[in-house]
Amino acid sequence: QQVTVAVLGATGAVGEQILKNLENRSFPVKELRPLASARSAGKTVSFRGEEVTVLEATPDAFEGVDIALFSAGGSISEKLAPEAVKRGAVVVDNTNAFRMDPDVPLVVPEVNAHEIKNHHGIIANPNCSTIQMVVALKPLYDRFGFDRVIVSTYQAVSGSGAQAMEELQAQSRAYLSGEEIKTEIMPVGKLDKHYPIAFNAIPQCDVAQENGFTLEEMKMVRETKKIFGDESIGVTATCVRVPVLRGHSESVYVELKRDFDLEEVRTALREAEGVVLEDDIHQQLYPMPLEKAGQDEVFVGRVRRDTVNPRALNLWVVSDNLLKGAATNAVQIAEKLVQQ
Ligand code: A2P
Repeated sequence: QQVTVAVLGATGAVGEQILKNLENRSFPVKELRPLASARSAGKTVSFRGEEVTVLEATPDAFEGVDIALFSAGGSISEKLAPEAVKRGAVVVDNTNAFRMDPDVPLVVPEVNAHEIKNHHGIIANPNCSTIQMVVALKPLYDRFGFDRVIVSTYQAVSGSGAQAMEELQAQSRAYLSGEEIKTEIMPVGKLDKHYPIAFNAIPQCDVAQENGFTLEEMKMVRETKKIFGDESIGVTATCVRVPVLRGHSESVYVELKRDFDLEEVRTALREAEGVVLEDDIHQQLYPMPLEKAGQDEVFVGRVRRDTVNPRALNLWVVSDNLLKGAATNAVQIAEKLVQQ
């Protein structure tokens, strides 16, 4: 079955990866409709060796679209997703706009693909940091159970978009040549205060919340419960932006519900869908973002029993935030939609 696919935000960091993914995975695209702001209308993007013209994202641009993949920011999703649905499209939304809406499934196919069929026109793609964590935790949840996770993230700038990637590169060049450093985006574009990300680590991803956590941290807390369908899971997150272009890393501490031996844990991880285990500290084998950028899987290493709590595990989890964290997960959901 061939489908008409709209990609909203086709000129952005995630949109570009969605186009590549649709191409690489031989997605059955009858017609591709790349959409962006009026600024980009008339530009082209390449798809399967052809140049396709970008259109302005207006409500009528969704006429005749079967599946629409949205990555242009939350406020644009709020405005245009209902318009796309009204015109018969199913929207896979990469933003925070609908994730906690009880009528909207929040899906990571390796964990809860069965939720896809419950959609009413919109399916949400979780936050990039949540996705890679839940893929790594799923085999542990199934075999051992857990209700307590403590995570610290080391997040790439591409999570904040193409301009943030340019900012890191420009700042790095300026820093090394002794020029003045311009700070316009990090840590959060829309806030007034900005800090350099080059040669730095910023303990703020997204805006502050009443409780002293950031929105990114609270996304990890709420989305993890919703994806597992288990309100008893407690997550504490600290999200940090680091000068990496692509690939989020996470230090994950998880308290399992029953005794385990480490080989059992490694086997569960090795056999899990979407997970690649690379774990041997003695051979200096562990995943790092520099070499995992461009790959679709979630990579796990540094598997060790906690020294304080013998039922707790420590893991290091790496994945390309633009791929499994965004584009790949969205296209996997779209594949399931087509199959259904
Ligand atoms: P444009 O390139 O025309 O600004 P990123 O996350 O890399 O910053 O990309 C954001 C994406 O969202 C881009 O494709 C961008 O298009 C698109 N976008 C931004 N604002 C709008 C808007 N008002 N309407 C439609 N698309 C938008």
